[in-house]
Amino acid sequence: MLDTALYSLDISLFSPFFPCSRPNAVLFTSCIKMNEKREDCTVGKAREQRSINFLRGIPAEEALSRLIPMASEGYEKAIQRYGTDVLQYGHINGFKPLRELMGQSHQVDPERVIVGNGGMEVISLFLKSIPRASNIIVEEATYDRFLFDAERYGHNLIGVELTSTGINLDQFKEVANKIPAAVFYGIPFHQNPTGINYSEENRQAVEQICREQSILCAWDICYELLRYDGNQNTSITVSEWGPILMSSFTKTVSPGTKCGYIVLPKDYVEHMGKVVANSRINPNLPTQAFIADFIESGKYADFLDYLRALYKPKMEALNVSLYAHFPEVSSVDISGGFFASISLQKITSEKEEAFIQAAKEAGVGIAAAWDAVAPNLREKKRKDGLFTRLTFPAYEPEEIRWGIAKLKELEEMSS
Ligand SMILES: Cc1ncc(COP(=O)(O)O)c(C=O)c1O
Repeated sequence: MLDTALYSLDISLFSPFFPCSRPNAVLFTSCIKMNEKREDCTVGKAREQRSINFLRGIPAEEALSRLIPMASEGYEKAIQRYGTDVLQYGHINGFKPLRELMGQSHQVDPERVIVGNGGMEVISLFLKSIPRASNIIVEEATYDRFLFDAERYGHNLIGVELTSTGINLDQFKEVANKIPAAVFYGIPFHQNPTGINYSEENRQAVEQICREQSILCAWDICYELLRYDGNQNTSITVSEWGPILMSSFTKTVSPGTKCGYIVLPKDYVEHMGKVVANSRINPNLPTQAFIADFIESGKYADFLDYLRALYKPKMEALNVSLYAHFPEVSSVDISGGFFASISLQKITSEKEEAFIQAAKEAGVGIAAAWDAVAPNLREKKRKDGLFTRLTFPAYEPEEIRWGIAKLKELEEMSS
């Protein structure tokens, strides 16, 4: 199962079949330049081979390159400014100045904020902190690693249908009434993997049901700031009881720097603090000092603006192409984040493997996203055809357009 997860996270890191198509394009151009006198420098059809790997849920290379001078300066500044404070043990619940900044941004007491080494780490520690074999309600399709990790701690997962504006509330109420659930976990902004955005009403209704049933409501908001359609997401209000917020700087700064945080109800912090300290003692403090300075200096806000502008045309290409080629399955207009998902209706279970292989040979990297579907809803979802997640920020609009058109062509050919 883990192998599948790794594979589906980023096949291109390991596979020669999906070299990044940008370097390909660069190679091709320089090849032409070097061989101006020759008619063609490539052999046969290889020249026309294009590729896109829709599995790559990663920031664009150019975004990370732009970060290099800021990160270099930021880390140096962090060590110079804080010295042994960030090189020594300490700040178990996270670097204090960063906790304060996160407390301010969510308007909560910083004591309620625990900053860790990435979003997945704080999620995992939270899953470790609740009683074993707890019932957890999740969206019908969600972040696959959350499902894997919850199962590893022996928790039971119950999926509830997602609509284009959030959770199916009738179904949610029914499940919450019937099953003594400890936690609900949802991704309300630019959801992974579907790309949907919850309406404010839906989100608040979910919180209300959770409160009535004493279910801890946990929102993973790591895509909140990555909205590219010119609008701003309305931030979630946190009260004494919750909701719990989980987030990450992976997609807004960089995955390598690994920093994420959780905002907890006050009376949960002490318990969670013990789990945290016994799992990893202190987090990576130089990273947290760099990120605190990045935010304070205003460079983070500028970088977010840059990311929004960079990803907007990619998102638009995705929306236009999905609407043109898959109008029947793309009712959701993607407005930000990293993902969209489609069900290829003509690709039934028996055809799945051959289709994915054919797509790979044609240069389109996709995978079945069954690991991201709640176990109790997998069978039902399979009836809609091959469920696959498409990521777009790492690619050029033209590549995205080509890839979606190719997927449609392959689906047509397979029927
Ligand atoms: C919804 C969601 N939560 C958490 C994470 C993990 O973030 P991190 O890389 O900071 O561990 C991801 C990463 O893709 C994600 O999509």
